[in-house]
Amino acid sequence: MYESEEAWREVDAYFVDTLVPEDKALVNARESGRRTTMPQAEVAPNQGKLLAMLCQMTGATRVLEFGTLAGYSTVWLARAVGDKGRVTSLELEEQNAEVARANLEDAGVADRVDVLVGPAGDSARRLVKDGAEPYDFVFIDADKPSNPEYLRASLALTRPGSVIVIDNVVRNGAVTDPDSDDARVQGVRTVLADIAADPRLDATALQTVGSKGWDGFTVVRRTG
Ligand code: DHB
Ligand code: MG
Repeated sequence: MYESEEAWREVDAYFVDTLVPEDKALVNARESGRRTTMPQAEVAPNQGKLLAMLCQMTGATRVLEFGTLAGYSTVWLARAVGDKGRVTSLELEEQNAEVARANLEDAGVADRVDVLVGPAGDSARRLVKDGAEPYDFVFIDADKPSNPEYLRASLALTRPGSVIVIDNVVRNGAVTDPDSDDARVQGVRTVLADIAADPRLDATALQTVGSKGWDGFTVVRRTG
């Protein structure tokens, strides 16, 4: 029981039951992940709430998300920014964007969220070209090989003081392997090296266990 995935799940269920109530819209959004091109990839409820709390603690009102899927994290973020806030979420697949838009409608936040469909790098470049106001908080949770590109885009779309969170940085432990031939591993390793080398960025990374198994995320603070 101890140190097993089953125990991690039980503890997560207990924490979520105790501290992270989900309304029907959040439950439906989470479960509708099954109808996307990447079932099971949405964040856990306690991680969704952490993202929301980081937005609230930093006073974020403009949020950019790479990777919408069913919009589960998007609902958490959109509720966190309040009715004067805005979330822009970038999604490759129209099928997923449709699922997400229905969930955002159900959650009562559709009017404060733009889901932009297409390769996230292209959408981000368009935001830069259109002179988007800086975002206060960025959540990078899309295709992992593109993490370095999404970090670069985020730097063009943020300001000193902005916070960037990058999901799924553990890769089942393979993140420690410099010779990995998995492009997702290299996408994580390169983005972490880029963060470390950038004097404008300060960061940490945490491993997590829980309802989604073993994983982790990076939190980055833009200081300059
Ligand atoms: C994967 C991607 C995610 O964003 C996630 O949260 C879990 C898994 C994946 O690429 O497998
Ligand atoms: Mg993820």
